[in-house]
Amino acid sequence: MAGKAQTAGGTGRETSGSFHVLVALLIAAGVIAVVYLTCNEERQILEEADTSREALWSTGAKTERQKCDLFSGRWVYDNVSYPLYEEKRCTYMSDEQACEKYGRKDLKYQHWRWQPHGCDIPRFNATRLLERLRNKRMVYVGDSLNRGQWYSMVCLVESSIPRHLKSVSHFLNHSLFVFKSYEYNATIEFYWEPMLVESNKDNAYNHSAGNRTVRVHAIENHARHWSDADILIFDSYIWWANLMMKVLWGSFGSADGIYKTVKASRAFEMALNTWSDWLEMHISRSKTRLFFVSSSPTHERAAEWGGADGENCYGETEPITREDYSGRSLAPELMRLVKNAIDKLKTRGVTVQFLNITLLSEYRKDAHPTIYKRQWRALTKDQIANPKSYADCGHWCLPGVPDVWNELLYAYLLRN
Ligand SMILES: *[C@@H]1O[C@H](CO)[C@@H](O)[C@H](O)[C@H]1NC(C)=O
Ligand SMILES: *[C@@H]1O[C@H](CO)[C@@H](O)[C@H](O)[C@H]1NC(C)=O
Ligand SMILES: *[C@@H]1O[C@H](CO)[C@@H](O)[C@H](O)[C@H]1NC(C)=O
Ligand SMILES: *[C@@H]1O[C@H](CO)[C@@H](O)[C@H](O)[C@H]1NC(C)=O
Ligand SMILES: *[C@@H]1O[C@H](CO)[C@@H](O)[C@H](O)[C@H]1NC(C)=O
Ligand SMILES: *[C@@H]1O[C@H](CO)[C@@H](O)[C@H](O)[C@H]1NC(C)=O
Ligand SMILES: *[C@@H]1O[C@H](CO)[C@@H](O)[C@H](O)[C@H]1NC(C)=O
Repeated sequence: MAGKAQTAGGTGRETSGSFHVLVALLIAAGVIAVVYLTCNEERQILEEADTSREALWSTGAKTERQKCDLFSGRWVYDNVSYPLYEEKRCTYMSDEQACEKYGRKDLKYQHWRWQPHGCDIPRFNATRLLERLRNKRMVYVGDSLNRGQWYSMVCLVESSIPRHLKSVSHFLNHSLFVFKSYEYNATIEFYWEPMLVESNKDNAYNHSAGNRTVRVHAIENHARHWSDADILIFDSYIWWANLMMKVLWGSFGSADGIYKTVKASRAFEMALNTWSDWLEMHISRSKTRLFFVSSSPTHERAAEWGGADGENCYGETEPITREDYSGRSLAPELMRLVKNAIDKLKTRGVTVQFLNITLLSEYRKDAHPTIYKRQWRALTKDQIANPKSYADCGHWCLPGVPDVWNELLYAYLLRN
């Protein structure tokens, strides 16, 4: 199994350049268990749903009463209920994701609702979430995709809070972002930890410390910043989408460190073991809720969805409607490792909910920033002449797809 990827991570601030990920992933077969909500849980979710929205969603409520896979469904154009917030009204919007601000004119991408087959997801209610988060700490831990999801959650929540009752602060050299609601004494945080364990990409600003090197056995320098959280949402994928990787036994900069080059998937497996052991030993089973967000797909090759060779997501304005579309940037092998780790943790009494957003996002070739985001470096003449050459087809515009990931997270958080 091999994959090849080049992220902006290799060459400078990850946030600075284009996000070109050429993921050539292989065919991998295998039936992977999907996340099911049982009948009762579905009813509970439906009960929590706001009634007007339920009416809107009635078209989706049908058959399959027994089980509902929230992650299997279709996108429905809905310009009445979506977007859930306005881009320019979000006090803390990220310039990486403010596509409208940076000149995107087609705004249809903001108006799509995710409709699971066989059940509805509850309408997002910020007050209700804040009530759940009262006196709690919720931390997203991961890479820039997870940071994008954090921005989405902050935008979803902050509009209901007056200016003097909220703030965003940065700590630990911008590794930790904290949104706080004073009234609820609740925080929603993001912690930069792109490879779960320690790596030479741990500086949230400058990732140009050479080829990826991971200390697969070391997590505590990160974990001490989030171990006491009440809700943890992990992700880690894009930085592993590589063929080979250097693993370090010992510490960075120490003379007796031992380096070994191994298959990236093998290194990922080792990192997941370290992560699992940490959770098992340090996480309070009664207090902490754990989630893992699956891989976020990229849209680097239009040929995958029937577009022209050499094109990418630049210029795309419509989602893919073929439900049997799977895309080739799905990372079946890496995600299978995550599922294995989660299954093993379950036998050890630790429950991690897998949020399988890969396929639903795979349909959304229209929803990336492309060229409509802050450019941290001056563009070259060649780039300006050929916009697709620097189009970001990996991150997502806001409002947009990450809002739906958060709606799914919200559906789980409302369950007890
Ligand atoms: C994610 O969900 C999709 C849609 O239900 C499914 O086809 C896929 O196998 C799931 N992936 C994993 C890793 O569970
Ligand atoms: C919403 O979409 C419908 C159908 O495309 C269109 O007729 C209507 O004008 C749109 N409404 C708004 C408020 O944009
Ligand atoms: C949102 O939740 C709050 C608190 O549970 C509730 O009072 C309010 O009516 C809800 N808003 C909507 C639009 O359902
Ligand atoms: C505020 O929330 C923190 C957790 O984030 C908790 O430790 C603390 O006790 C809370 N404060 C009050 C006054 O409840
Ligand atoms: C913070 O980042 C700067 C710039 O990359 C770096 O020089 C500095 O060593 C970092 N400080 C810490 C405490 O990591
Ligand atoms: C980023 O880190 C690399 C290696 O650690 C260093 O050579 C480079 O000067 C740093 N760049 C900035 C802008 O701090
Ligand atoms: C990084 O990896 C590439 C190819 O895998 C290799 O050619 C290059 O020498 C490596 N650079 C460093 C600094 O190790």
